[in-house]
Amino acid sequence: MTTVYAAPATIAEQIEELEAIANLGGVEPFAPAPTVLAVDNVSKRYPNGVQALKGVSFSVAQGEFVVVIGPSGSGKSTLLRSLNKLVEVSDGRIEIDGECISATSGRALQRLRRKVAMVFQHYNLVGRLSVLQNVLHGRLGYMNWLSGALGRYSEADKVAAIDLLHELDLGEFVYNRAGELSGGQKQRVGIARAVMQQPKVMLCDEPIASLDPSSAKVIMDMIRTMSEGRDITCVVNLHQIDVALKYATRIIGLHAGELVFDGPPSQLDAETIELIYNTPIEELMISEALGE
Ligand SMILES: Nc1ncnc2c1ncn2[C@@H]1O[C@H](COP(=O)(O)OP(=O)(O)O)[C@@H](O)[C@H]1O
Ligand SMILES: [Mg+2]
Repeated sequence: MTTVYAAPATIAEQIEELEAIANLGGVEPFAPAPTVLAVDNVSKRYPNGVQALKGVSFSVAQGEFVVVIGPSGSGKSTLLRSLNKLVEVSDGRIEIDGECISATSGRALQRLRRKVAMVFQHYNLVGRLSVLQNVLHGRLGYMNWLSGALGRYSEADKVAAIDLLHELDLGEFVYNRAGELSGGQKQRVGIARAVMQQPKVMLCDEPIASLDPSSAKVIMDMIRTMSEGRDITCVVNLHQIDVALKYATRIIGLHAGELVFDGPPSQLDAETIELIYNTPIEELMISEALGE
């Protein structure tokens, strides 16, 4: 005998059935993306008395591509470096994936730092080592000290690193010394090293500031591809407003250590840009055109 599917009779029954379908596998229907980064009232005063951050608060959901803009000295690097405790904040609280990094030290800090990878303006590669070895450094946070010092990486890590280098168009440079590469190529190695870390969050501090415009585009596209393809949340410091508008899902504006804007690129108007940079918009556009 065949079982005949009986359609739910009442609206209440229909809703119940839809909910049951949506909840298959225990997945919440339309669950918001989890918060991976929470910055709560963070201030930083350096020992020389400079107040680099003043009561900065924001949180970032998984999958966001946040670009932090602001003039030189506005606190962008200090903010980014606080997020993995390279800079110790003076006040406030920072949570990574629900854990407070400010209160963490030792092994627990090492474990938490695995979740936060960094891409630097000046690449921070070891020039005399091969491209592959530099990329494998992304695994050090997962290894004990001795294995790391002896470079005893697993075969799986080596295969993953080589695959990643091919993906980033560096397949032919795997065994070259990192120091021989061009700036754009070095930054791709920097991205590969960060991605090898399998982070939740990737922090990029002015990743294109040392590159020509065409390499800069390649690098920004690669950061976005890695972010989307591997569900890595990005926080990127940039001083180019046009690049920020093109890539960001959300922009944070800093001025003299204060958060003065937090919203989607569509809401960043000329008045806000002038507030962030304390400069008439015409002058900003001229310096952009000159590539300064
Ligand atoms: N290690 C440090 N010691 C003292 N002052 C610092 C240090 N690093 C940055 N500063 C100061 O903090 C302020 C913010 O700097 P920074 O975070 O580098 O800004 P940005 O990255 O936006 O240029 C600046 O006034 C800078 O001179
Ligand atoms: Mg900086």
